[in-house]
Amino acid sequence: PRSAAAFVPARLGLAALRRAAAGCTGCDLYRNATQTVFGEGARSAQLVLVGEQPGDREDREGHPFVGPAGRLLERALADAGIPRESVYITNAVKHFKWAARGKRRLHQRPREGEIDACNPWLVAEIAVVRPRVVVCLGSTAARAVFGRTVRIKDCRGRFLKAGIADCAFVTLHPSAILRVIDHDARHLEYARFVRDLAAVRERMA
Ligand code: URA
Repeated sequence: PRSAAAFVPARLGLAALRRAAAGCTGCDLYRNATQTVFGEGARSAQLVLVGEQPGDREDREGHPFVGPAGRLLERALADAGIPRESVYITNAVKHFKWAARGKRRLHQRPREGEIDACNPWLVAEIAVVRPRVVVCLGSTAARAVFGRTVRIKDCRGRFLKAGIADCAFVTLHPSAILRVIDHDARHLEYARFVRDLAAVRERMA
């Protein structure tokens, strides 16, 4: 199977990882993406947040979670009492996967083979940062962290040992909240998301 493994430098450090990841061709997603969007944050962060993959904005700007989902995430972190500077934010897959729909670039879910191919980068990031908790935002992140497909509703809100993290926590992806059309239902989902993040904050205290 295709993999990023051959691109990961032997000596770990966030700057070296970022440089190497910029040239990763370990799967085909680099072909249609503008650039690799690597994780960002302090290497001393106690918390690593893992998303799915960069979106349209992230692909163009080169930074994770700078679009609509990122704005919701930022607000939820603030509401949960977690300073964004205290977290390292990354994605399970480092290239934007999309399909053209007219002039728009529509997000496409990465396949399991693509998630697994990109996993060496996430493993390396977690090895450098060594966070207390790794938070999986949605099922793609959970697949990457647990190394197998897990159902969100089976594991949401609990602190679990996972393949690549001693303490992993699963919650929704912020985009799933944005997709809820009904106003009241969306607010309930948001409140539940903030409650999950607050439980993580308490775990770190
Ligand atoms: N959604 C993600 O999962 N990651 C990003 O970086 C942006 C949107």
